[in-house]
Amino acid sequence: MSKGKVAVITGASRGIGKSIALALAGQGAKIVAVDLDLAAVEAVVQELKAVGAEAVGVVGNVTLAVDAEKMVDVAVQSFGRVDILVNNAGITRDGLLVRMKEEDWDAVLTVNLKGAFLCTKAVSRVMTKQRFGRIINIASIVGQMGNAGQANYCASKAGLIGLTKSNARELARRNVTVNAVAPGFIATAMTDALPEKAREELTGQIPMERLGTPDDIANAVLFLAAERSGYITGQVLGVNGGMYM
Ligand SMILES: NC(=O)c1ccc[n+]([C@@H]2O[C@H](COP(=O)([O-])OP(=O)(O)OC[C@H]3O[C@@H](n4cnc5c(N)ncnc54)[C@H](O)[C@@H]3O)[C@@H](O)[C@H]2O)c1
Repeated sequence: MSKGKVAVITGASRGIGKSIALALAGQGAKIVAVDLDLAAVEAVVQELKAVGAEAVGVVGNVTLAVDAEKMVDVAVQSFGRVDILVNNAGITRDGLLVRMKEEDWDAVLTVNLKGAFLCTKAVSRVMTKQRFGRIINIASIVGQMGNAGQANYCASKAGLIGLTKSNARELARRNVTVNAVAPGFIATAMTDALPEKAREELTGQIPMERLGTPDDIANAVLFLAAERSGYITGQVLGVNGGMYM
């Protein structure tokens, strides 16, 4: 349980990030919701408050070190500490390798990988002092398997898994755990873009015969964020309906 814990969630205004924020709030955590857009951040904070949560919003871009520092500062000013960081913000810029633009490579690596590095770096100074922390990186099944048309995205998520393991080794003696959740294909705005035929083909490859839901991912995050999960670190928890084992 995460009652009374303070959780910073990036990309919290919709999709998986929003489900994670609501799930942690449901356990009594105080939420710092980070996203790019003021209106979206305000909307999710309202939603969190409506279910009785203590929540603040931060308009921030994970690719900027100053914004990463800002989200940690807001958490400490508002709630006195930071117990949980969920590096969830992520983007795709899909395309076959030969047609992939250099700027699409850079954009995806910068948000998905550098963003997690900057936020983890900012929060680790507080968590190591506290001698408590739970850092959870939202990776992807395709970071484990690869996927045609997603070289940039798969590389960023495979990199995020490497970052998870290195940070886990560095922070373990301060009682800060670092783990990754690797979702399979989850029904969100990111996968809504798939054509119907591609979606059917995809579902055929999933032993559970369905896409996942954002709540499936949020449940895995709740497990890793719990105080009692403190001996689990450097792990990648696949939540993919059996698609990759
Ligand atoms: N949907 C899936 O099937 C799936 C599968 C595996 C992994 N994931 C991962 O889960 C995470 C959430 O995915 P989703 O499907 O909810 O996506 P989404 O596009 O619905 O939400 C992503 C959120 O991140 C925010 N964001 C993007 N760039 C940002 C930045 N620079 N700074 C701050 N916020 C930023 C967006 O504004 C958005 O609110 C991502 O890391 C994604 O790669 C998703």
